[in-house]
Amino acid sequence: MAPLDDATQTRGGIPEGEVRGLPAWTYRNPELLDLEYERVILGSWQIACHVNDVREPGDYFVLELMRDSIVIVRGPDGVVRAFANVCRHRGAKLLDGAGRCPRAIVCPYHGWAYELDGGLKGVPNEKSFPGLDKATLGLKEVELEVFFGFVFVRVARLEDHSGPESVAEIWGDYARHLEPYRLEEMERIEFGDDMVWDANWKVGVDNNLENYHIPLGHPGYHRMLDNELEGFENAHGVAGSVSMLKERPSSNWVERMYQKLAPTVLADYPERLRRQWLFFTMPPNIGLDLYPDCVDYFQILPLGPTRCQVRYGIYGHRDERREMRVLRYLNYRINGKVGEEDRWLSERVQQGLASHGYNPGPLSRIESSLRFFHRQIREACPVAALDEEPLAGTVKRLDAELATG
Ligand code: FES
Ligand SMILES: [Fe+2]
Repeated sequence: MAPLDDATQTRGGIPEGEVRGLPAWTYRNPELLDLEYERVILGSWQIACHVNDVREPGDYFVLELMRDSIVIVRGPDGVVRAFANVCRHRGAKLLDGAGRCPRAIVCPYHGWAYELDGGLKGVPNEKSFPGLDKATLGLKEVELEVFFGFVFVRVARLEDHSGPESVAEIWGDYARHLEPYRLEEMERIEFGDDMVWDANWKVGVDNNLENYHIPLGHPGYHRMLDNELEGFENAHGVAGSVSMLKERPSSNWVERMYQKLAPTVLADYPERLRRQWLFFTMPPNIGLDLYPDCVDYFQILPLGPTRCQVRYGIYGHRDERREMRVLRYLNYRINGKVGEEDRWLSERVQQGLASHGYNPGPLSRIESSLRFFHRQIREACPVAALDEEPLAGTVKRLDAELATG
């Protein structure tokens, strides 16, 4: 390990406080999770769906977060909007899953009805509400941005927010990597297998932020791909890495068939793209994986201190050819296995983090995206920098004290 440089308090250019990852207690503390949820999850752009999931006026799609539910809906004017999925009367949740409400969003409790642009339209027994001002009781709108066809929402813009404002700014010129795929034209081909992992959401994110574990953790990827371990990263933490299909056939038949078929099926893609798997991550918790045959998003959301939800959506160009269906099936098999491997590894990490006496070890350069992510957590929740777990009931107070310095 590089010696510590006294003048700069850095080790190999890395600030001393960032040589190691977050302390183990931060991966299982309920009070810290509440802070992370408010500041990191609600304060960041979260992927909800694709514009083609809500193609027609009245189509809706619900994104469930730990405490908040957000509904994306296309209005009669063709505009896609996001609202808090909660009735302004007594708070009943309005919609579930995905579907269609062509005329209005009607609350299942007492029947308040909302226009597709959020305005309150009708109230049963309206006269029984003295002085009711319907104009002030529309659904609460949530910030929304469409980026390459994907719908992102930001529930709470933090007061002290600094840095890039939009998803497009966060991606900056890395957007050029997405251009050849015509993502805007894609449609959902699979919901993916959303999973619940017995791990803190940050364990799942950490795992998704590095390729260091591929050679051992994902033997299939190792057999069929030349994986770039270090990758590239922009100033806002968007990180990418390129894996190329190996010339040498894998010993596994599913992988071997994929290797053989992929470069032949997509004749209209540039040669390189037909052999390329491109993996991107966007802070704090989103992945975008671009394959020759399809694209998926991957999002890790907290459910509790040691439980998280892993959301997937798989999209592709409309293509009914048999060979494309086969290719997508093979991809699904390969990446389904990888998802199970990631789950197994992440749950083992969660178990290890609970054991007495574990202190985080150093991070390698290959894990530099973790460093960015952990910095983001420490900046949003300064208490997360403490080595020792605070006493129960004191996390919020301590955090406020540390924030004001
Ligand atoms: S809670 Fe929705 S109408 Fe009463
Ligand atoms: Fe993995």
